[in-house]
Amino acid sequence: MIASDQTNVLPRFLDLVYPSIQRGEGVRLWTTEGLEVLDACSGEAMVTCLGYGATPIVETARAQAHRISYVYNHHFTNEPQERLAERLIELAAPEMARVRFVSGGSEANETALRLIRQYHVDRGQTARWRIISQAQAYHGALIGALALTGRRSLQQPYGEYLSGHLQIAPATWRFDPSGQAALDELDRALEEAGPDTVAAFFCEPVSGAALPGYTPPKLFWEGLAERRERYGFLICLDEVVTGVGRTGSWFAHQTLPIEPDIVTAGKGLGAGYAPLAATLCKQQIYDVLAAGSRQFEHGHTWDGAPLPCAVGLAVLEALSEQGLVDRVRERGPSLRDQLELALAGLEIVREVRGRGFLLGVELVDPRDGTSLLPDELDAAALVDQTAFDQGLLVTSTHSTADGYTGDQTLLAPAFVATDAELDEMIERFAATATEVDRVIKHRLAGATV
Ligand SMILES: Cc1ncc(COP(=O)(O)O)c(C=O)c1O
Repeated sequence: MIASDQTNVLPRFLDLVYPSIQRGEGVRLWTTEGLEVLDACSGEAMVTCLGYGATPIVETARAQAHRISYVYNHHFTNEPQERLAERLIELAAPEMARVRFVSGGSEANETALRLIRQYHVDRGQTARWRIISQAQAYHGALIGALALTGRRSLQQPYGEYLSGHLQIAPATWRFDPSGQAALDELDRALEEAGPDTVAAFFCEPVSGAALPGYTPPKLFWEGLAERRERYGFLICLDEVVTGVGRTGSWFAHQTLPIEPDIVTAGKGLGAGYAPLAATLCKQQIYDVLAAGSRQFEHGHTWDGAPLPCAVGLAVLEALSEQGLVDRVRERGPSLRDQLELALAGLEIVREVRGRGFLLGVELVDPRDGTSLLPDELDAAALVDQTAFDQGLLVTSTHSTADGYTGDQTLLAPAFVATDAELDEMIERFAATATEVDRVIKHRLAGATV
């Protein structure tokens, strides 16, 4: 266990004492003190879809590092990058045409922002720069991506750095179960901005940590596609979490009534064996650049380097050969039912939602079954700590301060988790939620709120 005053690391939370992870195998982690933890959220960040210690990926990385690990992509391309681009399009996203590889999801989304802008400039529509996005979202920590969320708790104190994009409320049970209110809000945002200044609509097809497992209703997607036609903006879907299989299809948008112009992927693409993410676009976007400026001058040092791309290629092959996307699609609905059943009757649980191996549990105030839990209870932290005490790793969000949703927990197991391991995760999480229900009710009874 390492506290902030015992380390040279600048930790994320200075008041937390951090257990140190020594090793992992499959879906289990061990700390340096020998504590075993069952990982129900793929390395906490929905990344390790193949679990820990996947020998073929490690061997591929070793061999590639010997051959050539790194070279910059200004004057060179390389075989792993070329093969990964080809395989990604062929296997996972045939509706896309071109790929730029980067190191992380924020970079992929920043790349998408630049591509969106370059596309409009190359078409002579230089007034288009604004992005409309969903307020309760997360698109990354870099300044461009951070401007796309409406979450005040994340944006403070950096407001001065952030561009004036527009956000609309999510169409959840709380605000808008049909999706019509979100469409009306989208219309108001378009009008407020002036449709000719709007460059793109940006959103997660199925949300990750910001609103785990949530997807807008069909009516919203159809209305969004219709407005794209009418006003000429692009649609970029952030599939940093959902890309490469997490929701049971290679990309989540493939099961939605909408096709994006640009899509980003990350997390599971490198599966925790290399930092790797990607921005993919349709042929039509590429054609505009090809007929226009003939460049996309945006890059980071590790873009498309041989080592991470070789890892990404091995990850795609492992997913394909082991039929893991099919496994997630087939097992996802029963996993969700199982979770719902295990939590039935707990008054703090309002909703269990999600697709594939991306599930969310939303907590509410048990006194009325609707209100957000009082901010000061920080139920999210209580869930994570209680789970950890039960030897289970889940990740929760305390979004109460943002106003769109309250405390929520994300479960996102590795695709290789066996049925027995999934059962164990559900069992431990049910025990966790039962204990949290008890503690919260106790605190509410004694509190003055
Ligand atoms: C939906 C989504 N987009 C983007 C990002 C940013 O990715 P990264 O942390 O790799 O920069 C995340 C990270 O959690 C995410 O969940």
